[in-house]
Amino acid sequence: MEAIIRPDKESACLLTAKLIAKALRAKPDLVLGLATGSTMERVYEILAMMHRDEGLDFSGCRTFNLDEYVGLSGKDETSYRFYMNRHLFNRINIKPGNTHLPDGTAADLEAECARYEEKIAKSGGIDLQLLGIGQDGHIGFNEPLSALRSRTRVKPLTPETVRQNARYFKTPEDMPRRAITMGVGTILDSKRCVMLATGESKAAVIARALEGPITAMVSASALQLHPRCTIILDEKASAGLEMTEYYRWIFDNEPEWREFR
Ligand code: GLP
Repeated sequence: MEAIIRPDKESACLLTAKLIAKALRAKPDLVLGLATGSTMERVYEILAMMHRDEGLDFSGCRTFNLDEYVGLSGKDETSYRFYMNRHLFNRINIKPGNTHLPDGTAADLEAECARYEEKIAKSGGIDLQLLGIGQDGHIGFNEPLSALRSRTRVKPLTPETVRQNARYFKTPEDMPRRAITMGVGTILDSKRCVMLATGESKAAVIARALEGPITAMVSASALQLHPRCTIILDEKASAGLEMTEYYRWIFDNEPEWREFR
C-alpha cells in the first residue's frame, strides 16, 4: 500500500485521472472498476476533458461499477447508472454495452449478484479498481462487519450512510436502505486498486483504514492486504496520519512517481 499526499483536492483528482489515463493507454481494452460519490465527479470531468482535448480513447474500455441501489432503475436520477451516464459515459466514446452496473431492479437479486461476479470473471478480471471511501469506512457499499472475503451481494445500509447520502434524494425516506455491492473479496481480486479521498471529513476514517488494524469494522482497512494499492489524498484527508513524512518522501523520490510530480 502506498499513500500519496497532494496539496489540494484538484491535484489529487488530477493525479487519479492521470493514473487511469496511463493504464488505459497501456491497455486499450482495460477492465476498469468505477466508483460513484461526490469525490469522483471531478475525476470524471478531467477524464472527459482528456478524451475531448487529447483524444483519450475509451472505445475498447470495459467498466464495472462497485454498486447500485436496490429498487432504482437506470432512469432514476438518483441511481448510480444515471450518475455514471451523466458524469462520464455520455461524455466519452465508451460503448454503452461495455459499461456494467449491478441491476438494482432485478427480480432475483441473488441471481443478479452471481451474474455480476460471472461477468467480471468472464472479462478477465478488473485491471484497475477506482475507490472512494464512506465516513464509516465502506468501500463500495461494504458497510461495517462486511466479511473481508465477501463477494457481490445485497447489503443493508447503515443509518450513517443513509444520513450521508440522503442529500441526493427528495426526502430521506426516498433513499433505498439496501444496495447491491461488489464484496470486499471482489475488490481485493482486482489487479490494482486506486483509492481517492479528499476533505477533512475523511481524515479520521483514512487514519483508521491505513494505519489502524485490519478489521471488518472498517472495510477499507482490507486494502492493506492488497499487493498493489495506491491511496491518493489531499492535505485535509491526510491530517490524521502519522507517517506523512515517509509518504511524502516516496512521492518526491521514487522513480515511479517522477512523471506525475
Ligand atoms: C457512496 C458510494 C461509495 C463512495 C462514497 C463516498 O457511499 N457507494 O463507493 O466511496 O459514496 O462518497 P463521497 O465521495 O460523496 O464522499
